[in-house]
Amino acid sequence: MTDRARAIFDAVLPARLPEPVAFSAAAPSNIALSKYWGKRDARLNLPLNSSLSISLAEWGTTTRVGPAYDGTDAVWLNGARLGPETGFTRKVVAFADRFRRGQTLPLHVVTENTIPTAAGLASSASGFAALTRALAGSFGLDLAEDRLSMLARFGSGSATRSLWHGFVRWERGARADGSDSFARPLPEIWPEFRIAIIRVDTGPKSRSSRDGMGHTVATSPLFGQWPAQAEADCTAIEAAIRDRDFPRLGALAEANALAMHATMIAARPALCYLKPESWQVLGRLRAARQDGLEAYATMDAGANVKLIFLEDSTPRIAELFPEAVIVEPFGAAATV
Ligand code: PMV
Repeated sequence: MTDRARAIFDAVLPARLPEPVAFSAAAPSNIALSKYWGKRDARLNLPLNSSLSISLAEWGTTTRVGPAYDGTDAVWLNGARLGPETGFTRKVVAFADRFRRGQTLPLHVVTENTIPTAAGLASSASGFAALTRALAGSFGLDLAEDRLSMLARFGSGSATRSLWHGFVRWERGARADGSDSFARPLPEIWPEFRIAIIRVDTGPKSRSSRDGMGHTVATSPLFGQWPAQAEADCTAIEAAIRDRDFPRLGALAEANALAMHATMIAARPALCYLKPESWQVLGRLRAARQDGLEAYATMDAGANVKLIFLEDSTPRIAELFPEAVIVEPFGAAATV
């Protein structure tokens, strides 16, 4: 851990942690309506711009952290114990080490993901958010929610926003140490809000968002435009949510996603997460919109397309995209 990252954990955690106890925590996955793309500090995982997301209710991660009485860290994922050399175990242990800071406190970490495989969504956001909550609970830490969000940021940027249900805004912050870069939930509840996930990515794994961001920031001549535009979009989307103006929100979210992908396509060499099938979905959506459908698209570091719309458009969406999986972000599962 770099000294600067360590200093953040030292400032928030007690000098010595107590023995862990068993503690479970859950966190939802999220999809950004206004994207985070580009870091201003890679070691502290600090974003160049603020972002705003909607959480995916019951789709997420549940993690239980407890003591390992046999003295060795052990990690389970979806019922299977993983070897210490796997990427997943290494990431979990490295994140726990940020908390343990050299203390010998072996842990059992049991992770269950509830995101349907059919959705093809990454689980790092909900995974690190649930792990942050579970580690804090296991070590009896009484941390404010904004501190938990700031610590989750060291796992992955999008995890910063996965501590809560509903709409969440991650403030980029201005301080060099990143202590003011964390998320907060927005108060607005929009029960009719819907998300459809259209999986088109069945090919090999795309380039990680960390690599993709670094490459875009370093080589894309269009990237210079992005941070200010993204900041403005984030603010405008928050206002559209407050005003319950769905067409304005949808148009902004779609434009923001396309602008992010434009910065990547302009990178040298080009980085294109979208596949021909993604563009086909966008074409069908645009045609349906001309026909009166009020639905908009957003895409992340992969080829899948996520649609946002309101409840009354559900039959039309299901008819147009029968393969879509539909999420109710303010459904019953989002209240627990
Ligand atoms: O924090 P990461 O590494 O999961 O990167 C997230 C990048 C995007 O999904 C493309 C945008 C976002 O804000 O979630």
